Amino acid sequence: MSKKPNIAIVGATGVVGSTFLKVLEERDFPFENVYMMASAKSAGKTVTFKGKDYVVEELNEHSFEKDIDIALFSAGGSTSEKYAPIAAKCGVTVVDNSSQWRMDPEVPLVVPEVNADDIKWNKGIIANPNCSTIQAMVVLKPLHDKYTIKRVVYSTYQAVSGSGVKGISDLEEGLKGNDKCEAYAHPIAGNCIPHIDVFLENGYTKEEMKMINETHKILGDDTIKVTATTVRVPVFDSHSESINIEFEKPIDVDEVRETLANFPGIVVQDDPANNVYPLARNAAGTNEVYVGRIRRDFSVENGINLWVVADNIRKGAATNAVQIAEELIK
Ligand code: A2P
Repeated sequence: MSKKPNIAIVGATGVVGSTFLKVLEERDFPFENVYMMASAKSAGKTVTFKGKDYVVEELNEHSFEKDIDIALFSAGGSTSEKYAPIAAKCGVTVVDNSSQWRMDPEVPLVVPEVNADDIKWNKGIIANPNCSTIQAMVVLKPLHDKYTIKRVVYSTYQAVSGSGVKGISDLEEGLKGNDKCEAYAHPIAGNCIPHIDVFLENGYTKEEMKMINETHKILGDDTIKVTATTVRVPVFDSHSESINIEFEKPIDVDEVRETLANFPGIVVQDDPANNVYPLARNAAGTNEVYVGRIRRDFSVENGINLWVVADNIRKGAATNAVQIAEELIK
């Protein structure tokens, strides 16, 4: 792309949409024009970007008839289902944060540190993976390349910001003693709820199956055995994950630590003697994936346990999407 791109933010008034704007600004993403889009409810409101106010437009069938190069979508699955193909038909490259297109074989599912090359075969839509999957992929990729992963067990501790404004409000109200349940089936304050997204016939939740299926697609290896339990916890920002991995090849714990530390996007925080390990509150507002509690799993031959934390709205959503856009304009 020789000229600076024109960009559109679809869902500009939402939690992820507003973080798109922060991240674009922080990373000084080059652009010519920017268009802010949301539902009819927000049409006419203004959002501020790089010190300038922009009027929000209602998204409709004609929104992409202007000269737009890249659109960052975070306005829910049904909006993406309808409008991403319309945008793509108009020549726009869509980076979609919803789960709508992730498993479509025609759509690359991308974590730039892991599989940026897949961007090349996009046909107008590129999918941003699930927040819990993204932070896990950054960690699994260098280890899979080196030791070949046989099996992974994910156990997640996920922040309420992943449920948008309603999730945040349920926790805020819950901490004041009001058991509001707008985002969840049970009060979130004082609870760990092993129920993210809907339950499926196989007994897993949809969130758990997203982690399993997306791991296979992003690593390009369906032979890896993956299982997951995803849990919502009373934390505002950043998802934490316990990841247990079994490898084909023998591992050395110090070498694992070094391999992770040398991979782009990872910060190793692993000094238990000084109480240093990744923490949700420290990760909040940053773009990196933090790894610690790196230790051998004694119960199997070549196993390791890790504790992995990242800001779910940043690396788990907005930052990853902006990184994809950066690859597009390279
Ligand atoms: P709006 O604020 O006008 O409802 P969150 O996930 O934080 O709730 O944000 C969802 C984002 O998606 C908001 O910007 C919201 O706009 C936008 N959105 C929701 N439904 C639609 C729709 N049908 N068309 C366009 N934007 C939508």
